Amino acid sequence: MPRNKGHNARAALLSLTLALLAGCGGGGGSDTPAAPPTLDATSVSAVAASDPGSALPANWQRGVFMEIFVRAYQDSDGDGIGDLKGLTSRLDDLKELGITGLWLMPIHPSQDRDHGYAVTDYRAIAPEYGTLADLDELLRKAHARGIGVVLDYVMNHSAAAHPLFANARSAADNPWRDWYVWQNSTPSGWNIYGNNPWHGAGSNGSSGVGHYFGGFWSQMPDFNLKNARVAEWHRDNLRFWLNRGVDGFRFDAVGNLVENGPAAWENQPENHALMAAVQGVLTGYARRYLVCEAPGQPHRYAEDDSCGSAFAFGQQYDIVSAAKGDTAAIARVAAYRSTASDTLAGFASNHDGFAGERLWDQLGGDGTRLRLAAATYLLSSPTAFVYYGEEIGMAGASGLSGDPRMRTPMSWTGSTANAGFTTGRPFRALSANVASANMAAQRNDPASLRSFYRDVIALRQSLPALTLGQYGGALAQDTRMQFRRVLTTAAGTDTVWVGFNYGDRAATLDIADLPAGMVLRRHWPAGAEDVTLDTQGRASVTLRARSFAVLQAVQTP
Ligand code: NOJ
Repeated sequence: MPRNKGHNARAALLSLTLALLAGCGGGGGSDTPAAPPTLDATSVSAVAASDPGSALPANWQRGVFMEIFVRAYQDSDGDGIGDLKGLTSRLDDLKELGITGLWLMPIHPSQDRDHGYAVTDYRAIAPEYGTLADLDELLRKAHARGIGVVLDYVMNHSAAAHPLFANARSAADNPWRDWYVWQNSTPSGWNIYGNNPWHGAGSNGSSGVGHYFGGFWSQMPDFNLKNARVAEWHRDNLRFWLNRGVDGFRFDAVGNLVENGPAAWENQPENHALMAAVQGVLTGYARRYLVCEAPGQPHRYAEDDSCGSAFAFGQQYDIVSAAKGDTAAIARVAAYRSTASDTLAGFASNHDGFAGERLWDQLGGDGTRLRLAAATYLLSSPTAFVYYGEEIGMAGASGLSGDPRMRTPMSWTGSTANAGFTTGRPFRALSANVASANMAAQRNDPASLRSFYRDVIALRQSLPALTLGQYGGALAQDTRMQFRRVLTTAAGTDTVWVGFNYGDRAATLDIADLPAGMVLRRHWPAGAEDVTLDTQGRASVTLRARSFAVLQAVQTP
């Protein structure tokens, strides 16, 4: 179900978003070939590995990441566009929330000059975001706070405006031609996300010097990743960033890397080999992390012979439905981790509309249900990703359509002029609920949504079994679900039990098969009494409507 739903929604939203980008950021351009620019030798030179080491603790990636759209997070210079210095100035907020990892959406110069996935220079920082020195400073200060930083990396395609592609399209015998994918005429039978992925390279899309493949958009030509030199160049780019101390990468669109025909354009065997080679680069460095975007087959890419870790795509729909009380979704959520690798990173929403609207909007602004959704993925996923603003209940922008409505400036204050995001004019409309849902209003309120996220993240940090233990005991009954995680170390066995009542009435959950004679200490909700297990390791716990409990088995005092 999620796969088809995701793909159909993805097709519609992607075309809309790319059309918008084409219209608003120099992204559309003309297909007219220009004289090939001279390639800067340093942009294609080999890069040898030189590991600066890592200041992060082992297993740091089994924590909570914040996905950050730098353009929208915090502006430091009043130009209305977020930047690296602005983000650095917010590290204490992120630390206080309990965040131990940042995923930065693309920060390279891009043709779209917006979400950044049409990269024009893989070894530079977009000037509106700052400089390499600003990134170094961000890394230094993040690491000092125990926060790792992973960058988005787009191996599937470049921007059409990238000098490599400008060369490749200029002539059939250009030396860079085979860095992209070409045919003399448009092949038939292709349809990707509702579009023909073949584009004429000549003036106004004519076939002058052939047709190139761009699965996402005419302005995003796919690299020819069957060309070993191209794949090695990408690994050089990765080493360029790893050598600076970047802690890893979120890899874009790994299901789309290689095409073998109109019925074989997604999730091809070559994709896994390419990603295993990428993983090989990262394992040459200390404590680096790779997480892949592969909505069609997340499980397969989470395995060791591929990315080793991937987003738990598909599950986010069930998390939202479970929070609404959908019993079938609750059963799927309970069962998910019984078979899914713990390297599948949980999340509720992200920057792409095909993954779902902003969580606040999906749940109709119901803060109780939003808390249930958040607790569901934060407590069951060893690695979890929060989409910036989710933790304060940011809504999308009214008056915007497509993905941009979910990529609004962070609501730091209730100012309807600038959200405290900039002293200038924000690059985009603000969230519709900026006046009521903002950081300033929530930071010091112990009952706020943001305080809830902080408390749940602190809870998972205080119970290592939740992130390192073995998942088991999954049981769903109507709107109730429970599971446990058991961590066995030289120090003994630590069992943590988690129960949810997504229903509208109080409900009792029966616990069985826990160590007899122990006490279940209540970590959540705060102030509730501990529960004593009977001689057969059983107990019953009653949960209020739309609530959850976290209990830890401890020896009877
Ligand atoms: C997936 C990204 O998440 C999306 O935002 C982007 O448009 C496509 N890949 C193409 O890079």
